[in-house]
Amino acid sequence: MGRAAEQGKKRIAVVPGDGIGKEVIAAALEVLRASDAPLAFTEFDWGADRYLKDGTTLPGYADESGFRTLERDFAAVFVGALGDPRVPSNVHAKEILLGMRFKMDLYANVRPVKCLDESLNPLKHAKAGEIDFVIVRENTEGLYVDRGSHTGEGTPQEMAIQEDVNTRKGVERVVRYAFELAVRHGRKKVLMTDKSNVMTIAHGLWQRVFKSVAAEFPQVTASHMYVDALCMQMVRDPKQFDVIVTNNMFGDIITDLGAALQGGLGMAASANVHPGKTSMFEPVHGSAPPLAGKDQANPIGAIATAAMMLAHLGLAKESEKIDRAILEAVRQKKTTADVGGALGTKASAAFIAEQVARD
Ligand code: NAD
Ligand code: IPM
Ligand code: MN
Repeated sequence: MGRAAEQGKKRIAVVPGDGIGKEVIAAALEVLRASDAPLAFTEFDWGADRYLKDGTTLPGYADESGFRTLERDFAAVFVGALGDPRVPSNVHAKEILLGMRFKMDLYANVRPVKCLDESLNPLKHAKAGEIDFVIVRENTEGLYVDRGSHTGEGTPQEMAIQEDVNTRKGVERVVRYAFELAVRHGRKKVLMTDKSNVMTIAHGLWQRVFKSVAAEFPQVTASHMYVDALCMQMVRDPKQFDVIVTNNMFGDIITDLGAALQGGLGMAASANVHPGKTSMFEPVHGSAPPLAGKDQANPIGAIATAAMMLAHLGLAKESEKIDRAILEAVRQKKTTADVGGALGTKASAAFIAEQVARD
């Protein structure tokens, strides 16, 4: 670690994970190397193979020392995907991926929704350029806290309760993050989406906090929509959105819908951020077991995620080079089949890496 720091390089912990995670991360690393960004990579073998071999998910999970090491020694963490049919409990994904989000307190999950080209636009009544907004998903609370109770299993009285935890601190910081992101990126509107007409207790808190934080940002227009209506509007008229902030579970769901507006899960990027702390970057998609090992996975989601990581680390020039190269690949259809091209994962990444190296 000393050496990378001495050479002025930022240390990146790389966790390719499972399935296509391994392929898209290898692809994105090739592009990062071509960008000449001053980074030093350390790869970790955390994922289903390691778990099945020796029972380890993330070393130092139990006492949290593994997370402290990541925070101390690395500028960022770059993750592929976690999830494997051989681990039906999904415990390794929970401890590695959700572990990082929760134990490193990465409270803002930033997931841009931008359709880069008409060829990727699934809507016949909107233009690609009209699909350009950012979803900010709360990332450390809500239904993801894995709390609750289960009684009477197998009996007619069986009851399963999954608790939805929303704290003022947790809601307030992510809502403020959304407004600050809007200001930073010159965006004019922040919309909060919830189901406060039904979840009156939890989303009542969201309503009150959103109104009070919005009052601190008079230059930004604040509005609200119930999440069911929002799903309809995301398809019907996506140009109305600028920044959307929401809870953990709704954020998970609407960002897959957002991925579809960008040409599919293979295109969607994300950042898990706590300002000032080591943050984690991963594409929105999962490990796609049926695609794994076939050189078919679209690497662009991971490559665009790498560009988000560079921007976060203050390497704007390198980040922009990668974004330009992605755009070129999409325009020339030098892409994988899911987005209309005829290339494999490796060739798609090689084209982007070449553009980046030449830029
Ligand atoms: P998935 O994202 O893996 O796949 C959903 C669909 O999108 C599939 O049809 C798949 O082929 C397609 N797809 C996904 N990524 C693609 C890419 N890069 N290129 C082309 N097509 C792509 O979601 P799933 O099938 O619901 O889940 C599979 C596993 O991944 C599960 O174990 C799940 O828990 C896990 N998962 C992990 C993450 C993560 O690590 N961040 C995210 C989502 C799902
Ligand atoms: C995502 C994924 C994860 C989530 C899973 C794999 C735990 O779907 O990053 O969107 O639900 O957050
Ligand atoms: Mn998801």
